[in-house]
Amino acid sequence: MPDAPVITIDGPSGAGKGTIAHRLAETLGWHFLDSGALYRVTGQACLIEGVAWDNHAGVTDIARTLDVSFTSAPGGEVLVAYKGRDVSRAIRTEEGGRGASTVAAIPSVRTALLQRQREFAKPPGLVADGRDMGTVVFPQAELKIFLTATASERAERRYKQLIAKGESVSLPRLLEDIRERDARDSSREVSPLVPAEDAIVIDSSNLSIPDVFAQVMLKVKEKGLIQA
Ligand code: DC
Repeated sequence: MPDAPVITIDGPSGAGKGTIAHRLAETLGWHFLDSGALYRVTGQACLIEGVAWDNHAGVTDIARTLDVSFTSAPGGEVLVAYKGRDVSRAIRTEEGGRGASTVAAIPSVRTALLQRQREFAKPPGLVADGRDMGTVVFPQAELKIFLTATASERAERRYKQLIAKGESVSLPRLLEDIRERDARDSSREVSPLVPAEDAIVIDSSNLSIPDVFAQVMLKVKEKGLIQA
C-alpha cells in the first residue's frame, strides 16, 4: 500500500473530474493519475496490435505489458504515448471512449492494471482520477470525492467541447452514448461506478468549475492535507 497521501476523484465522464483533479494536483504540487487514460491506451493498443476488444485473453496480455508513457508538454498538456507513438488525440475520440469502456469491463484487464495504478502513489502525494479509485485502487485514501452531474448536463458539456474542436456531432447521439456508457460502467460486475461509502458526493450540474474546486479545497483543508 502507498506511503503517500492520496485524494481520489471518481465519477462519470463529463462531470468535470479531469479538470478538477488536474487543478488540484497542480495546486498541491502532487502527482496525478488519469486512470481512464490507461484504459483508453489499452483499447487503442488493441486496435494497433489487431486484437479485438472482446478477445479477453488478448486484451489482458496487452494490459499486462502495456508500454505507455505520460509526458507533460510545455503548455501543461499531457502527451500520452504507446510504444513511443503519440496516441494523445486518438484515445480522446468517441471510438477511444468506447474501446476504453469495453476493455474496462474485463475483470482480468482491471487486475492487470491495478499494481501499475498504485505505483503512482509517491510523495508528496497523489490525486487519482477515475471510477474505482476510492473503492478498489486506493481504499485507504485520505479524501474521496465522487463528482457527478446529470446525463443531459454532461452531454451538453461534451457537445460544446467537440463543437469547439471543430467536430460535427449530434447532441441526442451523445446523450444516448453517455447513457449507454453509464449503464455499462455502473452495472459491470467488477469495480462498478458507485461512490465509496466514505466518499463526499458533489453534484456539479448547477455549479461552475471554480465553485466545485472551492468545495473540494474546503474538504482538503478540513482533512488537514494542507494548511488552512
Ligand atoms: O475517465 P475516462 O472517460 O477517460 O474513462 C474512459 C473509460 O474507462 C470509461 O468508460 C470507464 C473506464 N474507466 C474505468 O473503468 N475505471 C477507471 N478507473 C477509469 C476509467
